[in-house]
Order: sequence, then structure tokens, then C-alpha cells
Amino acid sequence: MAGFSTKTFMKFDDYTTPKSAWENILDFIPKDKVIWECFYADGTSGTYLEELGLKVIHKQVDFFENDLGDILISNPPFTKKESIFKRLIEIGKPFIMILPCSTITCQYTRRLFAEQKDRLQIIIPRKRIQFTKIVDKGKVETPNKCNFDCFYYCFRMNLPHDIIWLGDDKKKDKKETKCPHGDKCYRKNKEHLKEFY
Ligand SMILES: C[S@@+](CC[C@H](N)C(=O)[O-])C[C@H]1O[C@@H](n2cnc3c(N)ncnc32)[C@H](O)[C@@H]1O
Repeated sequence: MAGFSTKTFMKFDDYTTPKSAWENILDFIPKDKVIWECFYADGTSGTYLEELGLKVIHKQVDFFENDLGDILISNPPFTKKESIFKRLIEIGKPFIMILPCSTITCQYTRRLFAEQKDRLQIIIPRKRIQFTKIVDKGKVETPNKCNFDCFYYCFRMNLPHDIIWLGDDKKKDKKETKCPHGDKCYRKNKEHLKEFY
């Protein structure tokens, strides 16, 4: 089976983003704006953003044919990076896209953003983001871990610095380990709590 560590990954775009990847940049996303999660896959990414308190549009529409929301936030298909950057610049709205770190050195990245008056800014995750592969509409935990790093490529997000290194996962920092179902929840074991923390 093809995994992240093979070249076939580059031809296969159906990977979903873990909730932690959005949770870790939540402080940089305005809560009063409508987010367009513009690449659908199985819809879980939009659900995660909603669960984090954001207003989200997440539906199966063609990215290149639509212009929705106030801010575009997504993990796009890596095979279409250049045309996605072009369309994002054409739309002109703020965006955050998760893309391989190597994208920063692509000639088209340099060319496209050099022409803009606003700068491309970058958030660097503390740890490598591990995506989940989707096969036949069902999720498959990829046995081979992702073997490359991604950045959050941000544009017109007014970040305080052009490069931001994230600290440790917020999940890990949390002291709160209560089950959100409350004290009456009958599943008081650690496995159940892991669903939330
Ligand atoms: C890497 S996945 C990420 C999905 C989701 N944004 C997430 O973070 O979990 C990218 C998805 O974009 C979809 N896609 C490819 N071309 C597209 C297009 N032109 N418009 C909308 N979605 C597209 C692919 O089918 C794939 O499911």
C-alpha cells in the first residue's frame, strides 16, 4: 500500500487534517469572520474548525469556480499548489493554507508573491503534522508516518511577525481533563478522555 513515504503521495490528494493542526493556530484566526474551508475531502476539517468556535462554510464545491466566506483556511491538494496560489491571489482574501515547507522555495511562490504589496507570512508548527489518508471514503490511518514538514502559509492575516514558531501543542498544555459530557458520564476511563484531550 502506498504511504506518505512513497512518491505516490504526491499524486494522491485525499488526506484529512487533524483537529490539533487547527487548534494550534486558533489564536491567529479572527472569530468574527466567516471561514471558507475550501477543500472538502470527507468534511471533517470543517467540522473541527466549527468545534473550535469558528463560523465555517465547508461544502463540496469547486475551489476554482467559487469565492465564499471572508477568510480561506484549508489543507489544499498539494498537486495543484501553483494554480491554487494563483486563484487565492485572484480572490484577494486573507488565507491560511497548509502546504509542504519546500513550497517556500518554489520559483512560482517567489514570483507570485513578489508581485504583491502584502507579504506572505509563515507559521511553523512545533511538530510535524500527521494527516490521515482517505481510501474509498473511509479513513485509513497511514502506517508510514508523513516524512515531510508543512508550514501554514498565511496571506493578509496581519500576523505580528513574518515567521512564527509555534510552541508545544495546546492539547498538551491543557490542565483540564474533564469529560465534556459532565460528571454524569458513565465512561470514566482514560480511553474515553483521549477522545477529547
Ligand atoms: C489534502 S485534502 C484536504 C481536505 C481538507 N481540507 C482537510 O484539511 O482535511 C484536499 C482535497 O481537495 C480536493 N480537491 C481537489 N481539487 C479540488 C477542487 N478543484 N475544488 C475543491 N476540492 C478539490 C481533493 O479531492 C481532496 O479531497
